[in-house]
Amino acid sequence: MAELPGGTKLTWLGHATFIVETGGKRILIDPWVMGNPACPDELKDPGPIDAMLITHGHFDHISDAVELAGSTGAQVVAIAETCAWLGSKGVDNVIDMNIGGTVEVAGCRAHMTAAVHSCGITDGDRIVYGGSAAGYVLELEDGFKLYHSGDTAVFSDMALIGKLLEPDIALLPIGDHYTMGPRSAAEAVRLLGVRTVVPMHFGTFPVLVGTPDDLRKEASDVAGLEVADLAPGASLGG
Ligand code: NI
Ligand code: MN
Repeated sequence: MAELPGGTKLTWLGHATFIVETGGKRILIDPWVMGNPACPDELKDPGPIDAMLITHGHFDHISDAVELAGSTGAQVVAIAETCAWLGSKGVDNVIDMNIGGTVEVAGCRAHMTAAVHSCGITDGDRIVYGGSAAGYVLELEDGFKLYHSGDTAVFSDMALIGKLLEPDIALLPIGDHYTMGPRSAAEAVRLLGVRTVVPMHFGTFPVLVGTPDDLRKEASDVAGLEVADLAPGASLGG
């Protein structure tokens, strides 16, 4: 199991939402807390946040972005079109970027990666184009790299992410239906070359049927693989 660097803590808030605490900063990935049925009550207010990384504009990844940007002053990283939409809602502390790029945020480096998924933003009775769905490799101060794939199917360019960005740990959806399920996620593990996986985007709704045990079975050929068993609210490291 890849150990998180000393002083770094990764907390799962349920679904695809995580807090990374590192170097005295707090980074929220995919802000969905208030309406997130998997998020423990005591974490629905995630506290002070220095930065938010948004993978895509679906409600279960962005719902609380506008409110939390206002209440915390956090810098918000997202793809250009999603940033433009956030700007239209009054969020001005944004870093707009695009796939393949790297930005400095909260003392870390965020590399934006591709995802095979959609990215419409529900805004009232309309769906606004939010750009492409994405993921991030978050490179901490000491070089440790954490990959949050966002919602995605498996894709062969995950091998490039493995080769170029060399993530130490991967947060991967396994629920199926809206993303890859356990069999595809096992192939993602092989393509990425990671040995520590935190499953996400499962169990929140009845259709998200994949389980960490399913992933363990599908990836039983991967020597040394650790599939973390976090309950929402639980942490690695810290
Ligand atoms: Ni989605
Ligand atoms: Mn989703």
